[in-house]
Amino acid sequence: MMTVVLLTGATGYIASHTWLALQHAGFRVVGIDNFSNSSPKVLERLAELAPAAIEFETGDVCDSARMNEVFDRHRPAAVVHFAAFKAVGESVNQPLAYYRNNLGGLVNTCETMKRHGCSRIVFSSSATVYGAPEQLPLREDAATSATNPYGATKLMGEQILRDIGVADPSWQTACLRYFNPVGAHESGRIGEDPRGTPNNLMPYVAQVAVGRRAKLSVFGDDYPTPDGTGVRDYIHVTDLAEGHVAALRWLLDNAGSLTVNLGTGQGYSVLDLVRAYEAASGRSIPYEIVARRAGDVAACWADPALARELLGWEAKLNLARMCEDSWRWQHTNPQGFN
Ligand code: WQD
Repeated sequence: MMTVVLLTGATGYIASHTWLALQHAGFRVVGIDNFSNSSPKVLERLAELAPAAIEFETGDVCDSARMNEVFDRHRPAAVVHFAAFKAVGESVNQPLAYYRNNLGGLVNTCETMKRHGCSRIVFSSSATVYGAPEQLPLREDAATSATNPYGATKLMGEQILRDIGVADPSWQTACLRYFNPVGAHESGRIGEDPRGTPNNLMPYVAQVAVGRRAKLSVFGDDYPTPDGTGVRDYIHVTDLAEGHVAALRWLLDNAGSLTVNLGTGQGYSVLDLVRAYEAASGRSIPYEIVARRAGDVAACWADPALARELLGWEAKLNLARMCEDSWRWQHTNPQGFN
């Protein structure tokens, strides 16, 4: 009997890659999404790539009746909860929308799980819960703080799951703190497709490379880093997807809960990434140094040891591969899924 896993936010960037990884790992996957930040076309692409049927339900994780219907129909043994808004700047301007969707959606999902006797959840958290790092690399016992409403929803989401586990020890949760997800499926058929102007570095660089944007604005070159530009721990979305498979297997094979970093342990600067992307794409990436972006930290990268020790997982794909796979997706889909 195949274990049924429900993915919320299933047609999103990281979820769609995780969908394929879970099916290849032998899980039966059901996806739910309201397409608030993704395209239905992802389902067509997944159907091309997937080793098994694509089972999908349109719906909002904040809709209790709809979530009950989905659980009644599919009876998931576990949930991987991706559904959330994720733009830091937007969260500052629209805090209520972020608290309503990100926290309301998590609470409603957990209430539905409880009603249906489902007590295993993998939660999409973020390195943003570390705020401004005091020491690097970042270990899971580092201080946490929220520097924006989006980060607050991730920190509070972890707290909600911890509190549920205290109230009912039969609950098992895996909080996965993503560093900087980038890249795309090696086929080039699915990838990151941000709506409007990309907030994040690699999708912006990709759009410059493919000619959709004229140049990159580099947010500051006066940081205390090797070349003055921001340093981050970029992780291939395929490695990230495998981290979810490993975490789910851990929940099924063990008692208790965990919180782990999903990063490579290697930091790269903005200019490192620009050079790597130029090498991968054969395109020049014009850029201009501008003022720092409010809220940015100088450097952030993971200590990935705990995920390796607990899950037997570590990132395998390097920066060149991240850029090559991103470029294949971008130049074969210059307008994304539209
Ligand atoms: C990376 C570096 C920028 C864009 C954010 C969220 C985090 C997670 C990942 C959701 C920084 C520089 C960027 C640009 C630039 N999201 N940059 N020009 O800020 O580390 O993390 O996205 O979970 O929660 O905080 O990622 O890709 O935005 O920035 O110079 O046009 O690139 O200053 O140094 P960040 P990013």
